[in-house]
Amino acid sequence: MSRVIGIGLAGFGTVGAGVYKNLLRNGPLLEQRTGARFEVRKIAVRDMAKPRDVQAPAELFTQSADDLLADPAIEVVVELMGGIDIPLAFVRKAIEAGKIVVTGNKALLAEHGAEIFELARDKRVPVFYEAAVAGGIPIIKSVREAFAGNRFEAIHGILNGTSNYILTRMTDEGLEFGPVLAEAQQLGYAEADPALDVNGWDAAHKAIILASLAYGFWIPPRDVLVEGIERVTASDIRFADELGYRIKLLATIKADEAGGIEVRVVPTLIPKAHMLASVGGVFNAVAVRGDVVGEAVFYGRGAGQDPTSSSVLGDLAEAAAFLQSPRQCVGFTSHGLYGRCKPVDRTISKYYLRLGVEDRPGVLAQIAGTLAKADIGILSVIQPEGLVDGSVPLVLTLHDAPYGPMKQTAEALASLPCVKGQPLLLHMETFS
Ligand code: NAP
Ligand code: HSE
Repeated sequence: MSRVIGIGLAGFGTVGAGVYKNLLRNGPLLEQRTGARFEVRKIAVRDMAKPRDVQAPAELFTQSADDLLADPAIEVVVELMGGIDIPLAFVRKAIEAGKIVVTGNKALLAEHGAEIFELARDKRVPVFYEAAVAGGIPIIKSVREAFAGNRFEAIHGILNGTSNYILTRMTDEGLEFGPVLAEAQQLGYAEADPALDVNGWDAAHKAIILASLAYGFWIPPRDVLVEGIERVTASDIRFADELGYRIKLLATIKADEAGGIEVRVVPTLIPKAHMLASVGGVFNAVAVRGDVVGEAVFYGRGAGQDPTSSSVLGDLAEAAAFLQSPRQCVGFTSHGLYGRCKPVDRTISKYYLRLGVEDRPGVLAQIAGTLAKADIGILSVIQPEGLVDGSVPLVLTLHDAPYGPMKQTAEALASLPCVKGQPLLLHMETFS
């Protein structure tokens, strides 16, 4: 006889409806594998009258997520509402009530993970969140469990499906930003607030979760360098191509020799020959470098209904295992080996700098002089012929430099009379 587990779905949008649909499709298989039969007993939504692509019995629906918490026949709640304040109150109450929590909400965990996992540990209630990072890729379980015997040297990831989809279409078809974003929204990849996808914060939330798991302390969002893809143009993509690179919204997580942790999520030039450069469309990839395992790369769909619900179903299987045989299982364990982030201004990188400059003698010398004064070396220069909006583009790649002085120098260059418009400064990652 299988154990019946009552679940409550808080949210029936792209992911919530996908979980319901795929539970119907593969419930019997899950039952064979876990010895548990999952029964959805309530579904909370905001608008009961909304037409839905996936149908569920009307009597399951409620407009109050608290109804899920009040139902003693619900042992596992699956939070897929999005946002922060309402899910935070809901998750706190669920843990207090002893209900297992499954969530795909990376914004919630990045902002409030420390508090949620402390409460979960006190109450001995597991919180599972595989769907929160990289859609269908089982990276949480891998970092938390499979690599438990490694020190993490670096983790690099393409962690936002929407921005990768946009950059890929810009690269392959020379398209500009706006229409491609609308398409990604249509496909169910984007967040309810798509600004989070393009301004880098959705990927940053995921990077914070991965870095916190890897380094054993909850990374404060204020210590993370985050920039979006909004200012990357089709010409930057062409210049990068000429230099032998692709531009990706890349999460870089690493520890320096003194144990300072760097987390940045910025549009980054990566060599075309690197595996991450060929990750296209909605796909995500995470390259983990551990001191024991060496390099391991994970690749898969990073957003969308089915891949994301695959991760939620995996978490339900974990919940079933816990209910059948309770064990230490709190979702996040802190350890004292690390504990501070490196100040962003002291992090080191190579850079791509695009300027618009006047087309006259001496301009290049002024720019080279300003860089030399800051002790920043030039790796390469491209200056194509032809005016664009009254100036010519000048693209420089620059040797390793600390971010603080580099940013100040870009500002100093912007204030030179020969420089027109706002420079674009991007990181370059060589994975060395
Ligand atoms: P969504 O399509 O906007 O769905 C949100 C669902 O939550 C809707 O059913 C909505 O009700 C319901 N809801 C919102 N506020 C509520 C409230 N106060 N009370 C009750 N129900 C409420 O969002 P989604 O794309 O499925 O994303 C859900 C979560 O998963 C988010 O945290 C997101 O970051 C995360 N996630 C999404 C993806 C993806 O590919 N979409 C991938 C990984 C993780 P109505 O239907 O009535 O509006
Ligand atoms: N909006 C997110 C993305 C969903 O595009 O990656 C998956 O977390």
